Parts: sequence; C-alpha cells; structure tokens
Amino acid sequence: MESMASATNNDHGDTYEEIGIDRIRIIEKLSYKVIEGLRRKVFSPDKEKVLHTRYSISQAAEMVGRTTTTIREAEKSGRLEEPSKNSRNRREGYTLEQVNKMRKEFGTLPYRNSEIDEPVVIAVQNFKGGVGKSTASVHLAQGFAKDGYRVLIIDCDPQASTTSLFGLNPDWDLKPDETLYSYMSGERANIKYAIRDTYWDQLKILPANLSLYNIEYSLAAQAINNAPALDKLRVAVNEVAGDFDIVLIDPPPALGMLSLSVLRAANALVVPVRPATVDFSSTSHFFTMLVEALEDLEGAGMYSSYKFLKILTNDMDDNKSAHVELTKMMRNVYGPEMLNTVMKDSAEIDNAGARLMTAYELEKPITSKKTHDRCMVYLNSLNQEVKTLIRKTWPSQREALRQEGII
Ligand SMILES: Nc1ncnc2c1ncn2[C@@H]1O[C@H](COP(=O)(O)OP(=O)(O)OP(=O)(O)O)[C@@H](O)[C@H]1O
Ligand SMILES: [Mg+2]
Repeated sequence: MESMASATNNDHGDTYEEIGIDRIRIIEKLSYKVIEGLRRKVFSPDKEKVLHTRYSISQAAEMVGRTTTTIREAEKSGRLEEPSKNSRNRREGYTLEQVNKMRKEFGTLPYRNSEIDEPVVIAVQNFKGGVGKSTASVHLAQGFAKDGYRVLIIDCDPQASTTSLFGLNPDWDLKPDETLYSYMSGERANIKYAIRDTYWDQLKILPANLSLYNIEYSLAAQAINNAPALDKLRVAVNEVAGDFDIVLIDPPPALGMLSLSVLRAANALVVPVRPATVDFSSTSHFFTMLVEALEDLEGAGMYSSYKFLKILTNDMDDNKSAHVELTKMMRNVYGPEMLNTVMKDSAEIDNAGARLMTAYELEKPITSKKTHDRCMVYLNSLNQEVKTLIRKTWPSQREALRQEGII
C-alpha cells in the first residue's frame, strides 16, 4: 500500500512520518474491516443476532411463579404450547417468549398498573467514560425483560456501545433516520419511527450511531435562545413511555447537550463508579457538575427531581487492596446513597462483551462455571435491588411490598 505519510526531519534529527487526514482515512476503513470481521465471527451467518437461551421447566416455573405440575397440566390441556423438541426428541426448554405466554396465561405478568403507576425512566449516568454505563444499562434492561417487564432502552451515545451489544452495527446497519437524530434535529415529530424490537421478548431499543454527534451542535444552537430545547428528549420519551414499564437511557460520557437532555428525560438515576482513586475524583466532579447543571436548568425554569438516585460500585477487583479500601470508604461515607450490590470486575462480562454479548446471553460459561455463577449472583442482585426501587415508586405494589417485608 502506498504510504500517505511524508518523511520529515524533526528538531531532534529523528525521521518520522507525518500523519495526515488521508492516512487517518485508511485507518478508519481498516477499523470498519475489523468490526465486520468481529461480527462475522460472533453472529449467525445471516448476521441477525438471536437469543439461544432456553429455560428448563423448573426455571420457567420459578420465573412464572407457578409449579412445574401446573405448567405441565396447562400444556396437557392445550392452554399452553409445549416447548419444541430437538432431534433426539428431548425438550429444548422454553424461550423467554414462551415463559411470558405462561405469565400471561397464569396472570403473573409483572406490568405496572397504568392507571396509578408511572413508568420509571432510569438514566445510567456519569460524565466519566468507561465506568460501565452501557454494561449496566444493557444488563439491567435484559434482567428486567427476563422478569417479564416491558422495557425500552434508548441509546443516546454516538459511540453506540449499547446498540452494538444488541447486534446492530451502528454505522453500517443504521441510517441517521433510524436513530434519535431525525427527531432531535426536527425532521420527525416523535421517536416512534426509531423504536424497534430486539431478539429479547418485550425489550425494544432505540439505537444510536455516529450521527448523534451532530445533535450536540444543533441542540446547543437551539438552546441558546430557547432553553426548552433541552426538554425535547423528555417530551418524546414521555410520549412513548406509556407502552413500557421501565425505560433505560444510556448517555454519552460527557456533559453536553445530549447528557443534559438525558438528565431532563430521566426520572431516576443510577451512577456507576469504579472504585479506583483517579476514577473516583472524577465522580466527585460529576456530582459538582450535576449540581451546576441542575441549577442552570432550574434557572431556565426546568426543575428536575428523581424518584431515586443510587451510586453503583462497578468493576471492583477484590485482589486490589486500593479497590477494597475505596469501596469500604464509599460505603461509610455515602451510606444509603449506594446500592448494596457491588459489581465485581468479572472476566465473564469482559469476555461476553468481546463477543458483543452480555453475560445473560451466554449459553455456557466462557471462563469457568464458578466465575460465571459468581457473575450471575452480582447481576441478579443488582437487578433485584433496582427492581425493588422501581416497585417502591408504584402505588399498586405497596401491598405486595408490605407482604414481602420490604416496606
Ligand atoms: N463489572 C465489569 N467486569 C468486567 N468488565 C467490565 C465490567 N463493567 C464494565 N466492563 C468493561 O469495561 C468496558 C467499559 O464498559 P462500558 O462500555 O459499559 O462503560 P461506559 O461507561 O458505557 O463507557 P463510555 O463512557 O465509553 O460509554 C467494557 O469493555 C466492559 O465490558
Ligand atoms: Mg457507554
């Protein structure tokens, strides 16, 4: 390949190659090739991502809240379809869709009561990059879907990690008109056009791609004389939230117009934090910036409040004494502001991510069963804890929470 760089002698007499835009274009093209190669390796031949997870009858019984006998009887009487069988005539287990059909049949779908319960819109927010916002958003979304809730996940990050984890190649599979871009730039009246099904039953996504970068500038221009431009996302989310129980928003890692819009659109916040000293100082900056941003918004007539705000320790490494110490200190100082669950640094999450999957989507452990099971314990505990916070905001759940001894 012909080099686009020119040889130059710098002040020290070294010879090096000056990198110009043409060379960067080549690197850009190569990067897309890597992504395509990765996709070919990790996805089915037709490239549509599918969910292979199947639940055994006892798992299904637990998810549905009925006994295996009740399920078998319903299948025998034809009220429920039997799970498909493999070539050896053995039951393959139930898909999430089949489990949800059982929940429907037995009246155990956990939907909120649309007359009295508001949909909960959670932003997994921290202006720092790489703290696990996308990881937490996607795992929470899938955990809630597994529980039978109707979930929407909105990817507001031009880097589109969440979109990629759902099997879409942001810059090849998606046009700007299939993301928030068209609505935010004023070309569309609402966001319904961009909400699509995923291979997870009852879990929909509004995907992102690089086009969202442009929104930062156009929103900044719009917001100068017209602060309510920052409520554009909120208006659109409120318009569709009625179809869901829980909406999750994954914002970009910076304080910009999109992040401010996310703060306005959300009615609950989860703030992931890595228990490393350098990361932590950025977290205190985050709260300073959050206070200032909320004050500015309030000054412009947009008062924001949240149903809950919880700090989530993520990526904690037990083998690092500094991590352990900081986690302890955070717990002492923040107290109830923190979620009890500590998400440990898990090779299972990291490896699943490398396959553009979540830990929930793995058919079998990538590392070891022990590591996988441990990871599932953190994830389920996170899911359970946030689910309780959500249910506490729903008046229809009061009696059930009382019976469970939670309130
Ligand atoms: N608990 C964890 N254990 C292991 N790896 C993790 C964990 N949480 C996140 N990661 C990994 O850390 C990386 C960054 O995570 P993620 O993309 O979720 O962060 P982010 O805050 O969304 O980043 P950005 O600011 O770029 O949007 C990913 O490779 C992810 O797989
Ligand atoms: Mg992210």
